[in-house]
Amino acid sequence: MAPPSDASAPLPAGAISKVLIVIAMQTEALPLVNSFHLHEAPAHESIFPKGAPWIRYHGNYKGLHIDLVWPGKDPALGVDCVGTVSAALVTYASIQSLKPDLIINAGTAGGFKAKGAGIGDVFLASDAAFHDRRIPIPVFDMYGIGARKTFATPNILKELGLKVGKLSTGDSLDMSPHDESAILNNDATVKDMEGAAVAYVADMFSTPAIFVKAVTDIVDGEKPTAEEFLQNLVAVTAALDKTVTEVVDFISGKCLSDL
Ligand code: ADE
Repeated sequence: MAPPSDASAPLPAGAISKVLIVIAMQTEALPLVNSFHLHEAPAHESIFPKGAPWIRYHGNYKGLHIDLVWPGKDPALGVDCVGTVSAALVTYASIQSLKPDLIINAGTAGGFKAKGAGIGDVFLASDAAFHDRRIPIPVFDMYGIGARKTFATPNILKELGLKVGKLSTGDSLDMSPHDESAILNNDATVKDMEGAAVAYVADMFSTPAIFVKAVTDIVDGEKPTAEEFLQNLVAVTAALDKTVTEVVDFISGKCLSDL
């Protein structure tokens, strides 16, 4: 594990200094909180409005200030607030308050074996789009899909040897026939429940965003998705933690144009 960095060490001119990591699930977030030696911001110092269950961890790591936010637990049901609504809201509030140089949306995803995905693979998404916003009216159809290119990071890809693929986002873990044809149209290799929503908000505020997605389940495989997801969640989260740490190590001391 890397030692805590000297936060006072000067950064090269133009270097990235503030990184915001957006994560949907506590199980995905906690290994990174430990890896980066982050501390939970106390409620009385919260940057978030009263009533929001969102949680922020922060700290200094290798010359970067890292904020990691997750949307917390549903106050009534006690489960992680996964999905696009919470992801968009917490991303919006975090950008407004923290003004990050770069966003990393990290999380687990379903993968398509027909597109080369396997359990435990970690992808950097080249594009993000929605697959469950069907509006069959000209131009509204494109708005619904909301396809965006992500911030290009050719040097991270080269250095870390990650897989690249398109990401498709919807608010369901399973896949209806309607979703399936939209995902095919999106040419996606991985499927999640937050990425395109984070991309939409990041784009609105001209904040570069990258998407690191680790595969917990094979969507076009034999096993039921929910079962396979829960079975692999903890092990795959370790792969996600390792890759996100490598990505942040790479970012340290670099400018956006070096990525
Ligand atoms: N996260 C992990 N697996 C997923 C899947 N199959 N669909 C959406 N989000 C996921």
